[in-house]
Amino acid sequence: MKNITLDINKTLGAVTKEQVYAQAGKAEACNATLQNGNGAGNDFLGWLHLPSSITEAEIAEIEETAHVLRSKCEVVVAIGIGGSYLGAKAVLEALNNSFDLLLKERKNPVILYAGHNIGEDYLYELTEVLKYKQFGIINISKSGTTTEPALAFRILKKQLEDAVGKEEAKHRIVAITDTKKGALRTLATQEGYKTFVIPDNVGGRFSVLTPVGLLPIAVAGINIRDLIDGAVSMEKATGTEVPFADNIATIYAAVRNELYKSGKKIEILANFHPKLHYIGEWWKQLYGESEGKENKGIFPASVDLTTDLHSMGQWIQEGERIIFETVISVEKPDHSVLVPADEADLDGLNFLAGKHVDEVNKMAELGTQLAHVDGGVPNIKITIPEVSAYYIGQLFYFFERACGISGYILEVNPFDQPGVEAYKKNMFALLDKPGYEKESEAIKARL
Ligand code: PA5
Repeated sequence: MKNITLDINKTLGAVTKEQVYAQAGKAEACNATLQNGNGAGNDFLGWLHLPSSITEAEIAEIEETAHVLRSKCEVVVAIGIGGSYLGAKAVLEALNNSFDLLLKERKNPVILYAGHNIGEDYLYELTEVLKYKQFGIINISKSGTTTEPALAFRILKKQLEDAVGKEEAKHRIVAITDTKKGALRTLATQEGYKTFVIPDNVGGRFSVLTPVGLLPIAVAGINIRDLIDGAVSMEKATGTEVPFADNIATIYAAVRNELYKSGKKIEILANFHPKLHYIGEWWKQLYGESEGKENKGIFPASVDLTTDLHSMGQWIQEGERIIFETVISVEKPDHSVLVPADEADLDGLNFLAGKHVDEVNKMAELGTQLAHVDGGVPNIKITIPEVSAYYIGQLFYFFERACGISGYILEVNPFDQPGVEAYKKNMFALLDKPGYEKESEAIKARL
């Protein structure tokens, strides 16, 4: 099997090859810090060896539970926010048919999502749809107290119990949470739900290769073994024994930090394959929460191309020159669609007749890369041979490893997210949560 590749040649102009390679020692030292577990946040490094350390028994247990949910449910609602849902959603969007919901013959349950917002209308519409479906719930929360998923679970648990009875509901609810502590662990023990553990040393945004990601993905009928195999191969390819010049994680970490130092404060992750949209969303959480602290960090943004060339394209081409672009390029599409000839040729496209749609897309990609580079936007290119579980597994691990290294180069703790608490504190004070009396008084005086 091939590996994903990284090409930084089109960034050289903003930074020189010498500058990037001068960072080799630092990037390798940061990779070693990760490996040796002697850096900041070192109690959250469990993700580093997840791919190679997951056991056959653990995989089989996930597959068995997926089988139970698949046999009972037409719809499974994955409840979670941030790292508790984005990985699964990224895989399912990438690998499922884009028009999955309209397929006549379904082999797999539909996976829907809840607990990633507090939209009353969203929840109303979801509960309406679920009235006519046999459904189950995977409730994912490491802390068990995050407001968004806890609210959604409260509502959907009641709906499920009302629909099928308390006893059957217990067999359709799976909880994925902390080993011992937290509200969800307590509830799962009381109710006797099937549970899976999010290891103490794995943070939410690094948890896609735990049951957090693997269970919903398996329920959707995707082979989680391929995903894990891809991640295992990338664990090897990005290890400390792999020299800088061959290690795409160290190179990516080094080049993005050099670009940042040169004034490129925003990284735009671009794809030319709409099914990769949620890979961008997952990546934004990973890098945003890991690096955006102490008043520093690259701002991670994402675009779907060519779609967004007709909206954000103008800004990327000619706006303030504080951006660089990382493109995920897919070598080969899964299917073939040829451009038909048309006698009238009113749209003037007969010159493309007989060509694959992807040939047009590839030229759009190349043309865009050159235009953006000409416009002063350094370009990093990540190539994946195809959109498959194996290569998404590679991509996940590559980005996670590079993120750890990059955060250490930036000299922040890439594994905490203290800033996420600020809105929660205000929200609880505004909602008069018991225990927040002082904060409530103070915040209301500001309104
Ligand atoms: O990266 C993180 O740890 C967070 O963003 C979490 O993923 C998110 O807040 C969800 O937390 P929890 O799983 O505890 O509900």
